[in-house]
Amino acid sequence: MNRQQDPASYTPHFARRRGNVFCEGVSLEAIAKKVGTPAYVYSGAAISGAYSDLDKALTAALGKTPHTICYAVKANSNLSVLRLLAKMGSGFDIVSGGELERLRRAGISPSRVVFSGVGKSREEIAEGLRAGIFLFNVESPAELELLSAEASRLHKRASTSIRVNPDVVAGGHPHIATGRRHHKFGVDWPQARKMYLAHRDSKWIEWQGIGSHVGSQVLSLTPYRQALRKLAGYVRDLEANSVRLRYVDIGGGLGVRYTSENPPKAREYARALAEETRGLGRHLLIEPGRRIVAQAGALLMRVLYTKETRGKTFVVADAAMNDFMRPALYSATHPITGVLRPFNAEKVSDVAIVGPVCETGDVFLDSWPLGEVHAGDLLALWGAGAYGTSMTSNYNSRPRPAEVLVEGKKFRVIRKRETSADIMHGE
Ligand code: LLP
Repeated sequence: MNRQQDPASYTPHFARRRGNVFCEGVSLEAIAKKVGTPAYVYSGAAISGAYSDLDKALTAALGKTPHTICYAVKANSNLSVLRLLAKMGSGFDIVSGGELERLRRAGISPSRVVFSGVGKSREEIAEGLRAGIFLFNVESPAELELLSAEASRLHKRASTSIRVNPDVVAGGHPHIATGRRHHKFGVDWPQARKMYLAHRDSKWIEWQGIGSHVGSQVLSLTPYRQALRKLAGYVRDLEANSVRLRYVDIGGGLGVRYTSENPPKAREYARALAEETRGLGRHLLIEPGRRIVAQAGALLMRVLYTKETRGKTFVVADAAMNDFMRPALYSATHPITGVLRPFNAEKVSDVAIVGPVCETGDVFLDSWPLGEVHAGDLLALWGAGAYGTSMTSNYNSRPRPAEVLVEGKKFRVIRKRETSADIMHGE
């Protein structure tokens, strides 16, 4: 792993200039001074850039075959991020009534929304039907029965798809691999086939699609090809049995560079999808989350203390595992660099960068080369735009961080730092 390369050099719309790190036209130090730390900073241009990168690549590769990007809201569900993507023309993928509520609050029509998730409640299904969800991705026979019953009760036909478990190997950490037969997600094909046929002439279930999601932080195109090949076969089998589907949904999962990963380029990904669906002529849906927002965000924190214990140096920062879970939860490596010092300062030594939470696992990086730092110095944790704020907690009664969106030379707070009163509200 090349731990020495400065993330500011390979993260789009971030750069080190004049002894400071900039997000677009704004220095991270200026943001930290204004809003305090810890704080998340997102580049609007990086988000829209990642979206249009994928969109353009798909348009070029698919030709006349239509496609829709349904951004996976769980990756980063801030209302301003959702609005920005809606403006770009994005559709959305949700997994809860709460995410549906967020989209509505952002003024986004449910007719652009795919509803996924292995455990939708009756209330969530009813809410989705009333709202006019574009597509329900059903994950079990029991859910299909419930969807059909609710649709009949509300007199709303349910536009429906089945998430088939493709049984392919993909994804980074075991916790984010989802496409193997032993995972809880999706329905295996023999069972899915029975579901399609049993509801072929249903008054309330309108078969529209088929889908799968292979995993997350996927760095190879092979699992996509394998899953799509299977889906294409299923679509043809169903067609021969008078179930005609309009949509094929290949889920999300496309990986990003955090340290030295080499993820497929949008162009390569789009080409693979196009090759595997050639001749099928179905509307392609994709549900990327991480790929759109991960690199667009950094988590700013300040050094509280440094200390040495038995030859090991600890840098104690004011952000912790409650603010950013990925290292504690998945042993994910997110580079951390000083903001004001040059990246390869002379005095670099391996340190542990930790937070204040009372857990041994509250470690961002255990042995990481960092230039000399002092209390008060500003640090940036990179690749924090996806599954950062959306996975925060209030553990140790720590208020959630502020979130800031940078657009050109301007920045604005898109979520206020929580207060202790916010945390205790409702107790
Ligand atoms: N569609 C479905 C049905 C999903 O389950 C997921 C993610 C996505 C789309 C979006 O996947 P993405 O493109 O973001 O990889 N918290 C973990 C990631 C969990 C992903 C769960 N499903 C992490 O921080 O790595």
